[in-house]
Amino acid sequence: MKLGWLEFVAVTASVAQAKDLAYSPPYYPSPWADGQPAEWSDAYKRAVDIVSNMTLAEKVNLTTGTGWQLEECVGQTGSVPRLGIWGICLQDSPLGIRYGDHSSGFPAGLNVAATWDRKLAYLRGEAMGQEFNDKGIDVQLGPVAGPIGRSPDGGRNWEGFAPDPVLTGVLMAETIKGIQDAGVIATAKHYIGNEQEHFRQVSEALDYGYNITETVSSNIDDKTMHELYLWPFADAVRAGVGSVMCSYNQINNSYGCQNSYLLNNLLKHELGFQGFVMTDWGAHHSGVASTLAGTDMSMPGDISFDDGMSYFGPNLTVAVLNGTVPEWRVDDMAVRIMSAFYKVGRDRQRTPPNFSSWTNDEYSYAHSAVQEGWKQVNQHINVQCNHSEIIREVGEASTVLLKNKGALPLTGDEGSVGILGEDAGSNPYGANGCEDRGCDDGTLAMAWGSGSAEFPYLVTPEQAIQNEILNRDVKHPVYAVTDNWALDQMASIASQSDVSLVFVNANAGEGFLVVDGNEGDRNNITLWKNGENVIKTVSENCNNTIVIMHTVGPVLIDQWYDNPNITAIVWAGLPGQESGNAIANVLYGRVNPGGKSPFTWGKSREAYGAPLLTETNNGIGAPQVDFTEGQFIDYRRFDKYNETPIYEFGYGLSYTTFNYSNLHVQALNASRYVPTTGKTSAAPKLGEVGKASNYVFPDGFERTTKFIYPWLNSTDLKESANDPEYGLEISKYIPENAQDGSAQPRLPASGGQGGNTGLYDELFRVSATIKNTGKVAGDEVPQLYVSLGGPNEPKVVLRNFDRITLQPGQEVVWSKTLTRRDLSNWDVSAQDWAITQHTKKVFVGSSSRKLPLRASLPRVQ
Ligand SMILES: *[C@@H]1O[C@H](CO)[C@@H](O)[C@H](O)[C@H]1NC(C)=O
Ligand SMILES: *[C@@H]1O[C@H](CO)[C@@H](O)[C@H](O)[C@H]1NC(C)=O
Ligand SMILES: *[C@@H]1O[C@H](CO)[C@@H](O)[C@H](O)[C@H]1NC(C)=O
Ligand SMILES: *[C@@H]1O[C@H](CO)[C@@H](O)[C@H](O)[C@H]1NC(C)=O
Ligand SMILES: *[C@@H]1O[C@H](CO)[C@@H](O)[C@H](O)[C@H]1NC(C)=O
Ligand SMILES: *[C@@H]1O[C@H](CO)[C@@H](O)[C@H](O)[C@H]1NC(C)=O
Ligand SMILES: *[C@@H]1O[C@H](CO)[C@@H](O)[C@H](O)[C@H]1NC(C)=O
Ligand SMILES: *[C@@H]1O[C@H](CO)[C@@H](O)[C@H](O)[C@H]1NC(C)=O
Ligand SMILES: *[C@@H]1O[C@H](CO)[C@@H](O)[C@H](O)[C@H]1NC(C)=O
Ligand SMILES: *[C@@H]1O[C@H](CO)[C@@H](O)[C@H](O)[C@H]1NC(C)=O
Ligand SMILES: *[C@@H]1O[C@H](CO)[C@@H](O)[C@H](O)[C@H]1NC(C)=O
Repeated sequence: MKLGWLEFVAVTASVAQAKDLAYSPPYYPSPWADGQPAEWSDAYKRAVDIVSNMTLAEKVNLTTGTGWQLEECVGQTGSVPRLGIWGICLQDSPLGIRYGDHSSGFPAGLNVAATWDRKLAYLRGEAMGQEFNDKGIDVQLGPVAGPIGRSPDGGRNWEGFAPDPVLTGVLMAETIKGIQDAGVIATAKHYIGNEQEHFRQVSEALDYGYNITETVSSNIDDKTMHELYLWPFADAVRAGVGSVMCSYNQINNSYGCQNSYLLNNLLKHELGFQGFVMTDWGAHHSGVASTLAGTDMSMPGDISFDDGMSYFGPNLTVAVLNGTVPEWRVDDMAVRIMSAFYKVGRDRQRTPPNFSSWTNDEYSYAHSAVQEGWKQVNQHINVQCNHSEIIREVGEASTVLLKNKGALPLTGDEGSVGILGEDAGSNPYGANGCEDRGCDDGTLAMAWGSGSAEFPYLVTPEQAIQNEILNRDVKHPVYAVTDNWALDQMASIASQSDVSLVFVNANAGEGFLVVDGNEGDRNNITLWKNGENVIKTVSENCNNTIVIMHTVGPVLIDQWYDNPNITAIVWAGLPGQESGNAIANVLYGRVNPGGKSPFTWGKSREAYGAPLLTETNNGIGAPQVDFTEGQFIDYRRFDKYNETPIYEFGYGLSYTTFNYSNLHVQALNASRYVPTTGKTSAAPKLGEVGKASNYVFPDGFERTTKFIYPWLNSTDLKESANDPEYGLEISKYIPENAQDGSAQPRLPASGGQGGNTGLYDELFRVSATIKNTGKVAGDEVPQLYVSLGGPNEPKVVLRNFDRITLQPGQEVVWSKTLTRRDLSNWDVSAQDWAITQHTKKVFVGSSSRKLPLRASLPRVQ
């Protein structure tokens, strides 16, 4: 159901009152960009300069997609030909170019998290950005911090990083810097609480037989919002991200793309976001309401795909002409878009798109949905450069060694090798054989949905391990059985093998595709495709069985992980196109594994809490998911309930060993925290709106069918809007202050990018000595946790980390700082961060549960 503005207010208010459902308070006006942060000021000035030269129709064009499949990119705005600006091209995904060709398939965000490596996160972002740039793409639709991974079975968790706000936030920021340094606008998505696939879209849910009229509502309290879900978005804003995508779900029963509290208050005011907010594809549910609530760009522009109608486009032009949307608001939308554009340097290196998302043919329709505009649409530009190297490197660095009874590394002299499991082999239909990777055939190197990309090739484990053996002088036998139901044949090969390498997986993805009965979210957290039986069969027949898992998150391994015949367990996540080469390098010891698990391996699904909602619970109204667990997800929950995991968050072995000693804490001279006061500037006025007659379609203009334009059919505004609800009396439905462009009081927690600048003051330096006590060089990830104290706080929370390389015998003094934010809690009544009176402790070690070094912190004034 599409909500008009009036319905939005009426429905949410009455439902909320009638049933005591969670409610989102209004927050207006929508903050205008001010170009204050130094990093944005040049871009902002240039944006103001060009937007001042634009007509209303031109500004509206920038805010509105031209419609689904109506141009070559998955989303594309209108253009401003008069000023030489062609439409802005937006393209999936967070791990490479979806629907591209001659482009790379990178490891998933989940794997970046497993590397715990800032530099690799940056380099992967930069490499992706280069590829997007070279295809003529302006905006990459990634990275992801929503989902953060509240529930281990959430379908899209792997697109993001880890169920920890600091690990996610740091790597999110590095990814953004990489993408934007390559000259492409990054998108922090999906804002926010987008933690499950079930019920995220009404039409999708109806297709699956659920009867609902509104999407799921994620009901999140203010403290949890700040300390968990919003945290990585603050890091994204601080990193200068150019765009944010609002999400499908509702938050407190108000849609993500028209929730004024989330967009106006938290994102644009408190965090000081200077870029633009775009809707997720189909997440736009109103015109005036979403505009006043802070949405800046409608994607893909039409109301439902290819209906030729838009909440923006002519409706936005009309809404300004009839005085409902203030002109400063549309100016701000355009300024935000152009600021992001200049900030990353699009003007310097921009080329038009030279590919089409909708065909690989060289010649086709420019406007694919309506088959108009025959032209050359694909130039098949090879944009891969040498990115296979960074892909392989992230694949290797993200490999987590969970168990090793001396079986690894392999020497190559083991004798006969069995390779067992479908997950070792190739997809019989080809690496891209299933559209949007919507199947689980062959080795899993990328999961499914719009978060996928096309592989240029995919090196399978079978291929790489076979090459490994054949490249040696003595060619030991190597056999692969890749049919997971051929257990007899597996038993036979396993019993003849000196080492058996078992490959198993578990998949998940986006809700629009169903794979093996999984509607995006996972139905369970066990292995797929008979995986347990494959492991059982092989381990019963071979006392040197090594299990390698490609999974989208945790799986239950309690049945077999401690089996003595299973001599090693390796988790490799979703490593991308170089999968086989990366795993072979780790198995054969050319690379010493240093990845750490970015999530907890529990003994049951229940141990994780935070169940997904898979049945409706509010009649045909919005299904309600109360985030009652607060911030107690993943390790924080295991710690709270004394649940012993099999492998904890942050855990991972190496071929060497490390020792921790000598914790030191040094107080730094930070100045006192000053809550921000005073007022913002007033909204600038950048043009004259003029008369309706300026905005009708130009004479003789040839329209593309179903295409969204900014122009009006007639000077009669009501007729041009063609909306049955048009013209309902303003006073009844314009929220208080929404049209007010005067200077506004500042929020105490605001003031810089990512919030009050005092939050990022460094209060302490913590250092420790780390020594490689083994015989080979290796990487270690020292982790710094804090305990904030207080009755209902997590035992420990991650606050800093690094990945360091140490030669045998080498020791280093590792040192990191703690910021004020790191030691603060969100004070709901003060609406600001504060350091509580409870004793703060610091911990340093190699995982969330191996923290040999600890100290109390001096009290902070
Ligand atoms: C949701 O409701 C809770 C409880 O009243 C409140 O703390 C929180 O700020 C609200 N969040 C939003 C986005 O409305
Ligand atoms: C905008 O218009 C002014 C005045 O006509 C002109 O000086 C300036 O170069 C224009 N800027 C852009 C970016 O078009
Ligand atoms: C809006 O964009 C469309 C598509 O790029 C273009 O044809 C049209 O001329 C633009 N309108 C204005 C006012 O620039
Ligand atoms: C959904 O539920 C409503 C109210 O119970 C009912 O009128 C409608 O027919 C149902 N629709 C479907 C598709 O089951
Ligand atoms: C304007 O928006 C309304 C929904 O609010 C929609 O019904 C109508 O078709 C839109 N008009 C145009 C011209 O897209
Ligand atoms: C496509 O890429 C090539 C090579 O990078 C570039 O020269 C060209 O301008 C791009 N766009 C088009 C439409 O040719
Ligand atoms: C879990 O789901 C997978 C994928 O659909 C399926 O293969 C497996 O059999 C399921 N496990 C159980 C215990 O039902
Ligand atoms: C371990 O493997 C040997 C064959 O090497 C087999 O005899 C034994 O039963 C296996 N043990 C288990 C626990 O499966
Ligand atoms: C496996 O069994 C063989 C034959 O009994 C034995 O030589 C070998 O040491 C065993 N390997 C392991 C890892 O236990
Ligand atoms: C505007 O006019 C075009 C061309 O006649 C027509 O297809 C379209 O439906 C009209 N739009 C509205 C909102 O009436
Ligand atoms: C102004 O235009 C918008 C967009 O078409 C429409 O939703 C709204 O009802 C109009 N308001 C008035 C007062 O005419």
